[in-house]
Amino acid sequence: MLSLALQLLFLPALLAFALISAARIRRLSLGESTTKLGDEPTTSTARTLFRDRNSITSLLAPSEGDLPSLLAARAHANERFTNAFDIHSTFTSPSRAVHDTFVRRMKALIDSKATGCDVHLHPPAAAAQPFDKTVRAIVLHLVLVALLDADPAALEYPALDRFAETLNDLWTRSKAPAPIPPHLLAALQAQLRAWVPRTQENAGANHLEVIIPAYETMWRVVAVALAHVHLDPRLRAGFDAFGARPTADELGRAAVDGAPSAHSVVLEVLRLYPPTRRIARHVPRAPHADADAHHPLAALVQRFLFNFNTRPSTPTRDFDVLVADVEAAQREGAAWGPDPDAFDPRRWERAGGSPSSPPPSAAALLAFGHGRLKCVASGWAPGAAAAIVAGVLSAGARVERADGADAVSGGRDAWRGWSLVVPAEEDA
Ligand code: HEM
Repeated sequence: MLSLALQLLFLPALLAFALISAARIRRLSLGESTTKLGDEPTTSTARTLFRDRNSITSLLAPSEGDLPSLLAARAHANERFTNAFDIHSTFTSPSRAVHDTFVRRMKALIDSKATGCDVHLHPPAAAAQPFDKTVRAIVLHLVLVALLDADPAALEYPALDRFAETLNDLWTRSKAPAPIPPHLLAALQAQLRAWVPRTQENAGANHLEVIIPAYETMWRVVAVALAHVHLDPRLRAGFDAFGARPTADELGRAAVDGAPSAHSVVLEVLRLYPPTRRIARHVPRAPHADADAHHPLAALVQRFLFNFNTRPSTPTRDFDVLVADVEAAQREGAAWGPDPDAFDPRRWERAGGSPSSPPPSAAALLAFGHGRLKCVASGWAPGAAAAIVAGVLSAGARVERADGADAVSGGRDAWRGWSLVVPAEEDA
């Protein structure tokens, strides 16, 4: 039997990072085995796509947009998550009070990670595991233990895999018009009741409100980073160094032989494969929408700023769907340096297109959103993802890719032909 242990120590963040001080896999053991809240819906009436950084930042943080308007525009776009997952967090609620309480709670969860957490998974005998299922289980395990205080010993691989599959199934169904069979959500909730200890504070809480924003994004970042380390083994050096000495300095240090830092690799994953590829807002349509068709962007943003609160119960067909195409904006433009379409972590460390242009900064990424609703974990998540990758690699796990396997992609169902080979315990 193999098992995995990650020891994470999250340090206070003086330089905007709460970092992991140790990432270690002792044993890895597995059985058999997107988009996050805010992604665009599949159906819309009038849909406008924003593809460049300026228009996206204006959409997500309009200069005069008040918080209730921003929250209402997001909540309406995310309605399907209430139906599918019974989520009533800030992602689906227009309430400022819900926002403040939820964000405070999530920040506290991240900041409280000042103690180690051990992750153990128990696999079947077969060494090669389906890649996406395995990574999903590792990250789900970590989120359950680190953020929800689940008992690692109770988290068996088959149950983690079933949970991740059901979550995925619900996610897919949430995009379709057909009613969702209630037993799916009931099964997730029953499993969470068994895993997460009940306390006075969390009584009645829907733990999916914590799990979905953290797990759905993180597992895909970890998967893509591991895949790129497989495709270019030189990328491993930064993760080995960070795993051996998990400090903020080491996370950002380029290896002596010119290999990029672990931080640069994760930033490049977030740039080219943002887990939230598109961020949607629903904005009430102005009474005379046709009149401003010649200035669509200005008109839409103006309506966003001034009209939203005045028509809160407008039916869906009277809303414009505004979509920030984060993926497109992060794959184009001189700000990223040469060949913005290429996976090149070194771009974060060297000057861009001209000698006078500095490397891009992490703040330029839109992968965590922008403005007042920007992800609370934007400083924490890259270090956490790097620690998980470092832990998987240092356990001796190896990625394999069969001939004809899927190309690397940040999608949920994109890993046909990929596997993770887990060393036997005596070899680890
Ligand atoms: C690589 C990992 C992650 C990515 C790419 C990501 C991405 C995002 C994005 C794009 C938003 C903005 C959504 C919008 O504007 O509608 C967001 C918000 C948020 N994320 Fe993350 N996220 C990640 C990890 C996490 C984790 C680990 C947590 C919790 C531990 C988390 C908690 C939140 C919360 C609470 C918000 C709402 C912030 C607010 O409304 O003020 N995220 N995230």
